Amino acid sequence: MAQLIDGKAIAADIRLDLKSKVEQHLASGARPPALSVVLVGDDPASGIYVNFKEKACKQIGMKTETHRLPKETSESELVSLIDQLNNDPEVDGILVQLPLPKQIDKLRIIGRISPIKDVDGLGAKNQGLLSLGLAGHRPCTPLGVMKLLETTGIDLSGKQAAVIGRSILVGSPMVRLLGHANATVTNIHSRTTNARALAREADIIVAAAGVPELVKKDWVKPEAVLIDVGIHRNEGGKLVGDLAFDEVEPIASHITPVPGGVGPMTIAMLLSNCIQAYEWRITGDHPYLVY
Ligand code: GUN
Repeated sequence: MAQLIDGKAIAADIRLDLKSKVEQHLASGARPPALSVVLVGDDPASGIYVNFKEKACKQIGMKTETHRLPKETSESELVSLIDQLNNDPEVDGILVQLPLPKQIDKLRIIGRISPIKDVDGLGAKNQGLLSLGLAGHRPCTPLGVMKLLETTGIDLSGKQAAVIGRSILVGSPMVRLLGHANATVTNIHSRTTNARALAREADIIVAAAGVPELVKKDWVKPEAVLIDVGIHRNEGGKLVGDLAFDEVEPIASHITPVPGGVGPMTIAMLLSNCIQAYEWRITGDHPYLVY
């Protein structure tokens, strides 16, 4: 039986630490850190995620505001809002919830966010700093996965890791973070011809393919560490991930549940990035990011 990695509890501990950090800033007479969230359209899942993010910010004493825009919003209207938030000295972090409606080029919008305020770490500047291993905002979900792996106490150095998926949000930055921790990383994706055989060689699998229950028992090496980034509702209405949990759990050494694994960590890392953005902004001492 695998050891369950309790993302909910780990995230709660991190949020407590962040809350006391905010309290210290407030006690010194500073204003609270502030996040602006932008939500375009009426995707129900996005609406739920944004509500979670708002609530989590408030719980640790941060300021937050959400700009809700109709699904017909044009790219230029959204660019104007981003510029306004970039120029607002009281805004530390800007998060544009994805996906965006079809008429909007998401990379243009993400690229428009001032790198110091890009708390999702998705813009070219932050992804470039990540590639180089230099300080910058790291994308929240892969950063949360690294924290979960840290709690297992497993040394990643020299281990084989397989990342399934190559999105800018998870798969690609995950490959880089694991590489910086000296793992040997294989990136499996939709055009990979021997995904199962490659996954089976891995000591650590991060499943971020967006395919329900893709990773079956015969994809997993005995005693592997399994991290599930997926979240889907199956026909029976049950939440499932990218791992076929019941099949793979008995042979793994550690595994994240869905829900309660990676999900809560994404939000905790967003809060952490917001406080980092705030501290970089008030001190003005970030060596690579433009203010
Ligand atoms: N949509 C799904 N996950 C995320 C995330 O981490 N950040 C943003 N901006 N949008 C998302």
